Formats: sequence, structure tokens, C-alpha cells
Amino acid sequence: MKKAIITGITGQTGSYLAKLLLEKNYKVYGIKRRTSSVYNTERLEEIINFKKYLNKRLFILYGDLTDYYNLNTIINKINPDEIYNLGAQSHVQISFDIPEYTTQVNAVGVLNILNILKDHKKKIKFYQASTSEMFGNQNKIPLNEKSNMSPASPYGISKLYAYNLVRNYRESYNIFASNGILFNHESPLRGENFVTRKITLGLAKIYYGVENTLELGNLNSKRDWGHARDYAVAIWKILQLKKPTDLVICSDKNYSIRDFIKECFKILKINIKFIGSGIKERVVDKNKKTWIKVNKKYIRPRDIDNLIGSSKLAKKIMKWKCKTSFKQLVQEMMENDLRKIKLEKKLLK
Ligand code: NAP
Ligand code: GDD
Repeated sequence: MKKAIITGITGQTGSYLAKLLLEKNYKVYGIKRRTSSVYNTERLEEIINFKKYLNKRLFILYGDLTDYYNLNTIINKINPDEIYNLGAQSHVQISFDIPEYTTQVNAVGVLNILNILKDHKKKIKFYQASTSEMFGNQNKIPLNEKSNMSPASPYGISKLYAYNLVRNYRESYNIFASNGILFNHESPLRGENFVTRKITLGLAKIYYGVENTLELGNLNSKRDWGHARDYAVAIWKILQLKKPTDLVICSDKNYSIRDFIKECFKILKINIKFIGSGIKERVVDKNKKTWIKVNKKYIRPRDIDNLIGSSKLAKKIMKWKCKTSFKQLVQEMMENDLRKIKLEKKLLK
């Protein structure tokens, strides 16, 4: 039975990956950082039969990417076949507020693991959660494994350091270490302060009269969005390749935040109009009710305007492609949040 360590198991993609590995009969060791709430495994509990697996094939251990001693102890004790490093301070806008912490976790955290692997007797396969944020604003699109990288945030810069470190340690010390360069992936388990989930949850609350308006930032930027469930498959496949490598994982299509909003309102069956421009822009319905307004608080010091990737190489070498369409993704997220808010409202009565 294969053993895998997942850092970031309590996060969105970590949960989908844990589910996949358990279905593939792995023993899964998830690293969870200490939080004041003790239980932060809700995402896992939502998608797997948590009790069935816990302490049988799923083990949750306290850990932190900034703590070398802790990582060294865990890796040596478990002696895994594979390590999936999904742990990160993953919010781009927040990385402008906490750049040093973001660097400690996302960059030095990876250095910690690679130094442990360099001295480890067994050849443990290592996956690094790299990102399309490393590209920054590029004119030559779609972006692929050969595109220039010029990140536009402390988050993107920390991830580029880790990406380069993975390549350097692979070449210098013959470590099996791969980068998955993943474009945005979303799901009903997406963190509530990323734009897609913020929109679906916010609109569901307004729909059921729990809140009045939703405030957003830049509505014009475009992202290449896929489903985290599909991307977890790609992550696993990357470590099953014969040789370590770096691969772009994306849907090959992109849409603006405005397009995402329009798609949500189609599901709600509400006709809307965008009125005004810049920070005065609003989304109103036929009764002139404002559903969404722009607030400059959510506009970043620097943003990436247009992200679109090419998954040609992933298709060729590991027969992977993004299965869930943009329309299906928005529908799943919107319907999930409508259900959630309807149920919460009912319970409050
Ligand atoms: P997420 O939902 O924000 O999850 C991040 C995970 O990292 C959480 O489990 C979090 O724990 C954990 N974490 C944070 N700080 C840590 C620390 N100091 N030590 C150990 N763990 C720590 O992110 P995601 O969407 O699942 O993304 C997974 C990974 O892929 C991240 O590395 C992200 O940067 C990268 N990525 C994501 C996307 C995307 O579009 N989703 C695209 C490209 C790359 P808590 O639960 O305690 O917060
Ligand atoms: N979060 C957020 N909140 N973003 C907003 C908002 C808002 O209120 N309004 C507009 N946006 C815009 C952002 O300015 C950005 O252009 C776009 O929506 C997407 O923002 P996020 O959903 O926060 O994602 P991201 O693209 O910055 O980063 C995500 O994807 C990366 C891969 O490209 C994260 O998951 C990163 O961890 C990941 O690496």
C-alpha cells in the first residue's frame, strides 16, 4: 500500500486530492496546522466518509511548513512514497499585506522539504503546487511551460522561488521533484474570499434576503478556470510519470469576472444590467435593486489582467484534460451555495 503525505490537506484542493488517493487505496497522512478552532477538517468531512477512514487509512498530524524540525520528524517517521506540497498562504491580495509570512510558508517551506528529501535514503516523489501567478502579465498567450515568468505579487514571487528551487534540486541532487503549474481551480469547497466563491455565496445570500449587496474589485480581469476535482487527478498523474517534470494544467479557455457574474444570474433566472464604470460600477436588476457594487478595497496594488494557458503537453504526455466546463463549474458552485443558504435560513427559523 502506497503512503502519501499531503500538506494543505484542510484546503480546497488538498481535500479533493485526499479523496482521490483514498479511493486509490493509499494511506494518506495529512498535515494540519494548529488553529484555535481545533477542527478545521470540514472540507474533508463534506466529501469523504471521514469517520470510516480516520486513523485507519487517513491520519491527520499537526505540522507547519515553517517548522523544519516538525517536517523532518514527520517525513522520517512516515517514510512516504509521495509528498504533495499543497500547503501555502494562497491568497494573492493578502500576500501584499503579509509578504514576509507568505515567503516563509510558500518559499522557505519548500526549501525545508527539499533539504530533508536531499538527505533521505529513499527516493520520495515530491509534488510542488506551482501556479499561473508566476507568469504575471505576458503578451504572448496562451501560456505554456516555455513562457516567460514575471510575477506581479509577493505570492507569485514566493511561488517562483519554490518553482526554481524544485528544478535546481532535481538537477543538482537527482530528486524526483515536479512542478504542477496550475491555473485557477475552483469548486464548492473554494475559500470564501476567492472571487468565484465570494460571488456564488454572496449572490445566494442576497437571493434569500440574508444580505443586501456584494462588494467586489476588478471585474475585467480574465482567468482560466477549471474544477479542483479534475485538477487533483492531474496532480496525482504528474507523480506517476516515469520522470519528474514541470507541466501546465489548465482548461485552455478564459472568462472575465463579469462573465462569471452573468453566468450566475442566468442560473438565478434574474435579468441584470451593469451600469456605471470604474469604482462606480454596479450590477442592478429590473427593479433597480443593486446586487453588486465595486469597492476599491478589493482592487489590488497590481493585478494580472489576462490568464489563459495551454494544456497541450499535459494532454500529450499524461492524457489529462479538464473535464468540467465553465458553465458546469458555475452551476455546481451556485447551486451548492443556494442549497447551503436555504438550509441555514430554515435552521434559524
Ligand atoms: P487553500 O484552500 O488556501 O489551502 C491552503 C492550505 O495550506 C490549507 O490547508 C492551509 O491550512 C494550508 N497552510 C497554510 N499555511 C500553512 C503553513 N504555514 N503550514 C502548513 N500548511 C499551511 O488553497 P488551494 O486552493 O487548496 O490550493 C492548494 C495549493 O495550490 C496552494 O499551494 C496554492 O497556492 C496552489 N495553487 C492553487 C490554485 C487555485 O486556483 N486553487 C492554482 C495554482 C496553485 P488552513 O486550513 O489551516 O488554512
Ligand atoms: N479575491 C477577490 N475578491 N478577487 C477579486 C475580487 C474580490 O472581491 N473582485 C475582483 N477580483 C479579481 C482579482 O483582482 C483577480 O483579478 C481575480 O478576481 C481572481 O482573484 P482570486 O479569486 O483571488 O484568484 P487569483 O487569480 O488572484 O489567485 C488564485 O489563483 C491562482 C492561480 O492563478 C489563487 O487560488 C492562487 O492561490 C492561485 O495560485
